[in-house]
Amino acid sequence: MVSIRRATVEDLLLMQQTNLLCLPENYQFKYYIYHYLSWPSLLHVAQEHNGKIVGYVLAKLEDEDVAPGVIQGHITSISILRTYRRLGLASKLMNFAIKSMQEYYDADFVSLHVRVMNRPALHLYHKTLGFDVVGIEKEYYADREDAYKMRKYFKKEKKGSDKIIEITDDLKFEDIKDVFEEVDENGEEISSKKNQENNENEEENKEKNNNENNINNVNENNNENNNDNINKETTKKKKKHKKKK
Ligand code: ACO
Repeated sequence: MVSIRRATVEDLLLMQQTNLLCLPENYQFKYYIYHYLSWPSLLHVAQEHNGKIVGYVLAKLEDEDVAPGVIQGHITSISILRTYRRLGLASKLMNFAIKSMQEYYDADFVSLHVRVMNRPALHLYHKTLGFDVVGIEKEYYADREDAYKMRKYFKKEKKGSDKIIEITDDLKFEDIKDVFEEVDENGEEISSKKNQENNENEEENKEKNNNENNINNVNENNNENNNDNINKETTKKKKKHKKKK
């Protein structure tokens, strides 16, 4: 039987070993000690009845990119040994860490980074735990894979204006890259460029509509023969306009 409990200082070495076995993102031992000394209630382990550590969650408080007064919890790393996966252990470890962030630190939200191709972890974060993707960090990892920035808010009023998108099973970077602001090679925001293009298209459409209205007005003021001719002309123009669209 596996149980979940808060990590002690004696667990840190085994947590590091589990991390080395499961993930390419590894940390020096002093980073585990730093977490433990700073936020001891945010480190949890899954332990077999024989004492073996089979999973861990390493979490902290983050002060980067946060407005004053906003408290951000952050999941630094979580992993479960291969033969213990899909037993609900990661969900439990995450829930323990998240609950501690709220109880001990009154956190407003929790964040994390995850590889865009890490489907099991994405399922865990989004489907099971209710995290949302709030951005992409291009080439975040050493092998240049992109990371999704994910958040789960505890207090709705602090949610702000993050752009939240739904993850689907076949979501690719190509599908969602437009949701986030990007800059082109000149440093100009691509989204504002698109807005400008949309405005220009709107202007063009308005002009076309005005022309058609003018033709219709002329139509009403002319005699029957003229009406017939102009109607034919208008129909042609409309057909052409439709083809363009
Ligand atoms: N494919 C699809 N869904 C999966 C998979 C999978 N391979 N594995 C788990 N899930 C789903 C489960 O079905 C479950 O869904 P449900 O709640 O809808 O039933 C959900 O994910 C949670 O399952 P758990 O059993 O709690 O997860 P598990 O204990 O297997 O651990 C983890 C998941 C941590 C991603 C594990 O696969 C692992 O250790 N992977 C390698 C390390 C890793 O990728 N860590 C995350 C890196 S990002 C970071 O650390 C911030």
